[in-house]
Amino acid sequence: MVNLAVLASGTGSLFAAMLEQKLPIRLMVTDRPCRALEIADEAGLPHVLLPRRFGKGFDRDAYTREMLALFREHHIGLVAMAGFMTVFTPRMFAEDAYRLKILNTHPSLLPSFKGDHAVKDAIVYGVKTSGCTIHWTTEELDAGPIIAQESVKVLPSDTVESLHERIKEVERQLYPALLKTLI
Ligand code: GRF
Repeated sequence: MVNLAVLASGTGSLFAAMLEQKLPIRLMVTDRPCRALEIADEAGLPHVLLPRRFGKGFDRDAYTREMLALFREHHIGLVAMAGFMTVFTPRMFAEDAYRLKILNTHPSLLPSFKGDHAVKDAIVYGVKTSGCTIHWTTEELDAGPIIAQESVKVLPSDTVESLHERIKEVERQLYPALLKTLI
């Protein structure tokens, strides 16, 4: 059985959905203090806060190296990013590292609305349908090969919060199921 690591930066509701599905999660890593760490703690799972600097002076390649070392130390074979907000440098995706071994989920139908404000950008643009995309992660933001997508209707009354929550309801089903199949 492959060892799975989950990376998060936020509330960790996708991580909690993965735990419910009894996926072989062996490590949880966050890049900032957040609820996902507490969930891992409550579940008795190994968890690491690998903090990063924000803005100028962030050494992305050194951060990538540290993350890579953690994965190797825990014999991680597959990684699921679930609301993780840091992009890695190419060393992470080398053939002898984690090329096509890291998945990400993004709250839009890629290639539309990449980046941190995908849900807001979709509402501002006025699309009638958005959704989520699960894709392989690369060094380019929200750009790796797409594995699965599911659409979600945008309602005239939607706020960023209401639409994002309906998208996350879909992600909480789709992502753990896909991981289960892959594993
Ligand atoms: C998800 O919508 C994911 O697509 C995005 O961040 C959200 C994570 O939600 N990248 P949560 O922190 O697991 O509740």
